[in-house]
Amino acid sequence: MKVGIPKEIKNNESRVGMTPAGVFELTKKNHTVFVQSTAGEGSGFFDKDYQEVGATILPTIEDVYNQSDMIVKVKEPIALEYPLIRENQIVFTYFHFASSEPLTKAMIESKSVCIAYETVEDADGTLPLLTPMSEVAGRMAIQQGAKYLEKPIKGRGILLGGVPGVAPGKVLVLGAGVVGVQAAKMAAGLGAHVTIMDINMKRLRYVNDVLPNHVTTAFSSEYSIRQLIKSHDLIIGGVLVKGGKAPKLIRKDMLKDMRPGTVIVDVAVDQGGCFETTKATTHEDPTYIIDDVVHYCVANMPGAVPYTSTIALTNVTLPYILNIANKGWEEACTKDVALAKGLNIIKGKIVYKEISEAFQLEAFEA
Ligand SMILES: NC(=O)c1ccc[n+]([C@@H]2O[C@H](COP(=O)([O-])OP(=O)(O)OC[C@H]3O[C@@H](n4cnc5c(N)ncnc54)[C@H](O)[C@@H]3O)[C@@H](O)[C@H]2O)c1
Repeated sequence: MKVGIPKEIKNNESRVGMTPAGVFELTKKNHTVFVQSTAGEGSGFFDKDYQEVGATILPTIEDVYNQSDMIVKVKEPIALEYPLIRENQIVFTYFHFASSEPLTKAMIESKSVCIAYETVEDADGTLPLLTPMSEVAGRMAIQQGAKYLEKPIKGRGILLGGVPGVAPGKVLVLGAGVVGVQAAKMAAGLGAHVTIMDINMKRLRYVNDVLPNHVTTAFSSEYSIRQLIKSHDLIIGGVLVKGGKAPKLIRKDMLKDMRPGTVIVDVAVDQGGCFETTKATTHEDPTYIIDDVVHYCVANMPGAVPYTSTIALTNVTLPYILNIANKGWEEACTKDVALAKGLNIIKGKIVYKEISEAFQLEAFEA
């Protein structure tokens, strides 16, 4: 199969759809890989790295789309890319169709085969192609939170790990899923005192088993959150209600119960956020302050660490890419139920219920 890796052209996106290690695996199986010139530079991979493992470098994005049977990307195509996608072409990337009607309609019109990373689903309901980005965001939440606790950027002026003779900072993590556990692990590693909350006792038992003793678990309720925010320096929002908006666990009136300079990092901002005062920010201007509480609400946190994020993403996408390239999408999806769940739009027909419901469009069987 001819596989194309275009350069991401969405604003501020430095990740790339495949690493040279991925290209190596594809060319080993006699597939042809086209990489747009400089596509990997933002992630630290250069044209010569791709050439060394057998990729052909093409000068323009048009060349890559024109010559490839399957396009492998990171972000959803933007309007400039819509006319480049053609009938029967496979596009494997994050789409998040339900949040964009123009994108959905453009892909229906293109008659391409759209397989979305975010809906590939394992038998136990987990989303293997979303997990690595939650891992990155969870770990990064502590790195960012620790920075914004510094006084010059209006934080409380606290060193999370403390020093001998001075108590460490206190971190409250809302949600003990992928984001929450990774955040708790990082905070604990820095020596902070950590409290992690969830409404799922299985998750709290798991955390209690695997994380160190200075990580305390607590059942999430409004009462306990109201108590704990008074004494914690850094609060991480990592809750998710599958398919829905994040619940508002901290309302505006509760900010006054926090000490001035408390930092909140709302990782769940992409689902509306779990703080009432959350509004999405960017890496250029990541924070704002309300009632003396520093808010960090960047919607694409992994974008700031493209080297780590690109490798983490392609580690998990590569087996599916190889499968599609070796067998073609129809046979690959027939034999792999998890991959079949990634099918969103096939040759002009929506085959994923939530997308058709979002825009009152007709749905078909995959
Ligand atoms: N900002 C970013 O760059 C970025 C990156 C990756 C993920 N995210 C987002 O982070 C959020 C968390 O993702 P995840 O992969 O950890 O999800 P997850 O499903 O693994 O974990 C979510 C957890 O929240 C818990 N929860 C639900 N309601 C709760 C409540 N009322 N109180 C406490 N806990 C509650 C669930 O029981 C679950 O354990 C998602 O919204 C995801 O989209 C954002």
